[in-house]
Amino acid sequence: MKTPPKAPNLSPSDAPLDERALLAAARAALEHAHSPYSGVRVGAALLDTAGRVHAGCNVENASYGLTICAERNALARAVADGSAEFVAIAIATNRASCLAPCGACRQVLSEFAPNLRVLSVGTGAACESWSLTELLPMAFRPSDLH
Ligand code: THU
Repeated sequence: MKTPPKAPNLSPSDAPLDERALLAAARAALEHAHSPYSGVRVGAALLDTAGRVHAGCNVENASYGLTICAERNALARAVADGSAEFVAIAIATNRASCLAPCGACRQVLSEFAPNLRVLSVGTGAACESWSLTELLPMAFRPSDLH
């Protein structure tokens, strides 16, 4: 009997993005948000090119300006775990409508993945999706330092 042809050896970064799983990871991360001041809970799940997911949540502080957004928290965790190349980030919030990442997070994500896919959900049914380039055209780049 003929053996069926082998499936091509896809690297995880070539595999189709499992948006539902990434959004579910962002929703799970939201549960750990520390946001007693704003009441806004945010979770982020960052998918790297090896297929690993790095989660973060917002962490507020009584000294308000020290607050860390979920997206930058996820990125810092990913980098600390040795990842530096990313495919997509999912963001979830406890507000009805989804949020687009703040300007600071756009810039920080752009350092590592200018073409990152950004998915976002609130508690409503709608999910939005953008490319990071679309959200932050003309980002300040590492090459601008030379
Ligand atoms: N926040 C995020 O975590 N990500 C964003 O992109 C926007 C804002 C958090 C920070 C703060 O804890 C709360 O949402 C309200 O600004």
